[in-house]
Amino acid sequence: MIKKCLFPAAGYGTRFLPATKSMPKEMMPIVNKPLIEYGVDEAIQAGMTDMCIVTGRGKHSLMDHFDKNYELEHQISGTSKEALLDDIRSVIDSANFTYIRQREMKGLGHAILTGRDLVGDNPFAVVLADDLCINPDQGVLAQMVALYKQFRCSIVAVEEVPADETHKYGVIAGETLTDNLMRVTDMVEKPEQGTAPSNLAIIGRYILTPDIFDIIENTEPGKGGEIQITDALLQQAKGGCVLAYKFKGKRFDCGSVEGFIEATNYCFENVYKG
Ligand code: G1P
Repeated sequence: MIKKCLFPAAGYGTRFLPATKSMPKEMMPIVNKPLIEYGVDEAIQAGMTDMCIVTGRGKHSLMDHFDKNYELEHQISGTSKEALLDDIRSVIDSANFTYIRQREMKGLGHAILTGRDLVGDNPFAVVLADDLCINPDQGVLAQMVALYKQFRCSIVAVEEVPADETHKYGVIAGETLTDNLMRVTDMVEKPEQGTAPSNLAIIGRYILTPDIFDIIENTEPGKGGEIQITDALLQQAKGGCVLAYKFKGKRFDCGSVEGFIEATNYCFENVYKG
């Protein structure tokens, strides 16, 4: 039922300079696969067919990655290396890829609004590729789609983080519905140390209903002078319902060097070798 997945991918990836000087951070590999491909795999596993990617300057390699490379195909055709392309070939055959350029960096809310024409008037998923989520039985997006079928409202994935890390995230407060589900009553983007409403941090997986676009349009710049999806979601929660879901699985913050290395070690042992 949710067919579209939006990937905001226009950011500069400054935390990984110089590696990201001319290479998109979404193309950084965890073992032998770029980060964004893990996100696309997760979306396909959740039944999505349309990958809508919000790009920026210098992101051509993203588009090339999800396209045929005839010269390479010709070179390795019939050799033992051909099998190394099996996964990406199947990804390319399973989904449509569309792209739109975000010309100015005005925050995650603005990036999502930039994707409006690609998404249309449909509920959709959002994946922030630098949050790598692994759950072998059922990916995090598939878990969230199952919930969406039941509740038909926006859903954010959340995870408990130590109190001294809440300032790095959007943080929610809510009323408990079940063990792993809450109805959001408050949401703060990157609260100052000691002021977070809880230790439940939003991680980079969202299901959004399309009314969010009008709400974003009317959202003033917030933290860091940027248009924040967190602020728009709080408005949506006040006018209706937004759920926060404690997902099953592991999540790595691949936007940080530590998280990237942890993800690499984990995937080498459990995904690549396994
Ligand atoms: C964004 C969101 C934040 C969320 C985080 C998850 O922040 O604005 O609410 O907690 O992603 O990774 P960023 O990490 O892009 O600064």
